[in-house]
Amino acid sequence: MILRVKDIKKSFGGLIALDGVSLDIKKNTIVGLIGPNGSGKTTLINVISGFIQPESGSIEFKGMDISSMKPHQIARLGICRTFQLTRVFRHMTVLECMLLASKTHDTGILKLFLNPGEVSKKQNADIERARNILEALDIGHLGNEYASSLSGGQQKLLSFGMVQMTQPGFVLFDEPVAGINPTLANKIFEKIELEKKSTTFLVIEHNIDILMNFCDEIYVMNKGKITAFGTPQEIQCNKSVIDVYLGG
Ligand SMILES: Nc1ncnc2c1ncn2[C@@H]1O[C@H](COP(=O)(O)OP(=O)(O)OP(=O)(O)O)[C@@H](O)[C@H]1O
Ligand SMILES: [Mg+2]
Repeated sequence: MILRVKDIKKSFGGLIALDGVSLDIKKNTIVGLIGPNGSGKTTLINVISGFIQPESGSIEFKGMDISSMKPHQIARLGICRTFQLTRVFRHMTVLECMLLASKTHDTGILKLFLNPGEVSKKQNADIERARNILEALDIGHLGNEYASSLSGGQQKLLSFGMVQMTQPGFVLFDEPVAGINPTLANKIFEKIELEKKSTTFLVIEHNIDILMNFCDEIYVMNKGKITAFGTPQEIQCNKSVIDVYLGG
């Protein structure tokens, strides 16, 4: 297991958002997380990435207890959250966004500062890597365009490209294809699937077809608890899941 989440509890005032959640995630898989609105999915991702401290429970990444680490320490271990394209990013070109993403992950920045000769070498290597990633995502021709000029779907592709720039070992995706047409959503998941050889994914997703096609395993949440777990086929046959979530 690359990630083990054990018995996490978190409440907001009187509301129990996570009520003893446990997950075991195998390396190099895509794991889906579904559940009705307000069931605690985003809160769980916030806890794993260190943005919210749980009241109890533990989180182990590659055998290391990360439960009390800060978000930047967790990021440094290679756990990446989706980048939302903020206003700042929108006023940058696609290539600049990619380079910024690689910098935010750069732990050796001081070393580069003290040794400027290395800077341009590293930057050239980053530019080439960024161009290769954009090419593979079919947005290679948009490198010099402003991120704000891209379509919604292209922005999602750019977001994923920025994730790849950080060379993450583990990615937490909160609805990475929300609002995107099914054809493009499938295409983005095909690209995600290609990265499975080097990366593990935990993905919150509402689209059943996508979950069925791309996930190795699926967790179902309801009211702060995991109510079902299994392969897509098992989940599809689980009567309680069908009744509660898939609507018959
Ligand atoms: N910072 C917060 N302060 C107070 N309540 C919160 C906070 N974050 C989440 N909640 C509450 O915790 C519950 C779980 O929210 P969460 O965002 O994790 O759900 P979700 O499964 O991601 O839902 P959605 O599918 O709508 O994104 C909700 O009732 C929500 O209102
Ligand atoms: Mg959410």
